[in-house]
Amino acid sequence: MPRQQTVLVVGGTGRTGGRVLQQLLNRGVTVRAIVRTREKLPPGVAGNPNLTVVEASLLSLADEELQRHLRGCDAVVSCLGHSLSLRGIFGPPRDLVTRATTRLCRGVEALQPPSPVKFILMSSVSVNRPGGLDTRRGALERAFLQILCGVLPPARDNQGAADFLAEKIGPSNAFVQWSVVRPDSLLEGEVSEYALHEGLVNSLFAPGSTNRASVAHFMCELVTDSRTWARWKARLPVIVNAASKPT
Ligand SMILES: NC(=O)c1ccc[n+]([C@@H]2O[C@H](COP(=O)([O-])OP(=O)(O)OC[C@H]3O[C@@H](n4cnc5c(N)ncnc54)[C@H](OP(=O)(O)O)[C@@H]3O)[C@@H](O)[C@H]2O)c1
Repeated sequence: MPRQQTVLVVGGTGRTGGRVLQQLLNRGVTVRAIVRTREKLPPGVAGNPNLTVVEASLLSLADEELQRHLRGCDAVVSCLGHSLSLRGIFGPPRDLVTRATTRLCRGVEALQPPSPVKFILMSSVSVNRPGGLDTRRGALERAFLQILCGVLPPARDNQGAADFLAEKIGPSNAFVQWSVVRPDSLLEGEVSEYALHEGLVNSLFAPGSTNRASVAHFMCELVTDSRTWARWKARLPVIVNAASKPT
């Protein structure tokens, strides 16, 4: 019998994070969720014996308390995102995703787990692979993105979190391994057939689409399937609906 896995989920009250919670629990994974309010948890998960809910403000938790929630976890899944309101986009914390990613990874490192913990970050196709590897992105699109990062804190934040993992944690950290999942425009709907790509397949000016449920499915595969993890660790996979045609 394989050992039951334990996963810490942040952003589990969000539209994608809620699906991650449901799908992980359906797979029999033990889940710890740090949420601002349990009222926003997805239907059907409250009372699940495999779910522990911690009501707290993630960025305000003391280091020791965060480490207590991380201790014994095999993976951390982050589906954090800025709310789509003026306050959510332009108000503090403007570096929500970067700061949470940094704190969670540093917390894992401080615990020195016997085998590396997976850190799975929900990101976006607006995020560049470090080292200029996204050659699909033309000069005009790169300039547009630079302006976007200049004026929209969430765009800068998503790039900052990915850069932290790629550059500060790196591909051979003894305690943290990571994967940055890059969906295109998010849609509701069920898990659909989806395709995974090393690099970009659509332009920001002619975007593709990705079902939130499929993002959740792939993130759960990264947690529970060792071959999927071996394929996509230390990478920034792009996930799009198979029906979404490359432009
Ligand atoms: N929209 C798109 O088309 C698109 C496309 C590609 C990628 N993305 C990226 O995907 C990610 C998630 O998207 P989503 O639509 O699933 O997100 P969402 O539904 O807006 O959920 C965001 C989550 O983050 C939490 N959160 C927000 N501010 C917080 C704070 N200050 N402290 C702690 N938690 C906080 C929310 O908690 P509460 O429930 O308490 O508010 C919620 O759980 C984002 O990073 C986004 O940039 C979006």
